Amino acid sequence: MELIFASKNKDKIKEIRELFKSFNVKNTKILTLEELKFSQFIEESGNSYEENAYIKAKYIYEYYKKPSFADDSGLEVYKLNNKPGIFSSTFAGINVSNYLHINKLLSELKDINDRKAKFVCVICLILSNINEPIFFRGELEGEISYKIKGNNGFGYDPIFIPNGYDKTLAELTLVEKNKISHRAIAVKKLINYLTKKLN
Ligand code: IMP
Repeated sequence: MELIFASKNKDKIKEIRELFKSFNVKNTKILTLEELKFSQFIEESGNSYEENAYIKAKYIYEYYKKPSFADDSGLEVYKLNNKPGIFSSTFAGINVSNYLHINKLLSELKDINDRKAKFVCVICLILSNINEPIFFRGELEGEISYKIKGNNGFGYDPIFIPNGYDKTLAELTLVEKNKISHRAIAVKKLINYLTKKLN
């Protein structure tokens, strides 16, 4: 089966490809929007991860008429009323450097000691009917560090320390991050579903 991953985010694509490889998923080929030369902009106008993931998966399903899935994700800091949440990718502005998002978050937390936070990832899968989306959620609990550390990963990884670790996600390798991450948990559920459905 060919399954389109409705994302242009190279880091998400890398993680998802690696996860499918590590779970040894056979008979499923992941196609990306880059490979399909899809250049349109899909506006994420929803009010939740589920709505945004559905908007992206539905758009691509209707465009290519092929099974599609999308990931919508974000970071929620409890003492900031779960900000930036679904606005994680535009927290400090649209198309600005990642460094600005991270610095804005660190400055909003400057006088706050309780730095508990979680990453959330929701995947929406549309196999054959846009009225029957299937959702898979993964969460990773941790806290926001005081300093930026590590060069791996993407987004807020350099300031997120998962519970039970003394390193940020950006100090972990891709394989290590993929053992615990919110995205890995959601993808595992997706793969279990596909395996049961297709066998
Ligand atoms: P969206 O799902 O494309 O709306 O954007 C998700 C945004 O949340 C990313 O641009 C990152 O800023 C952040 N994010 C989501 N997942 C991760 C992750 O695994 N590590 C770091 N940041 C993430």
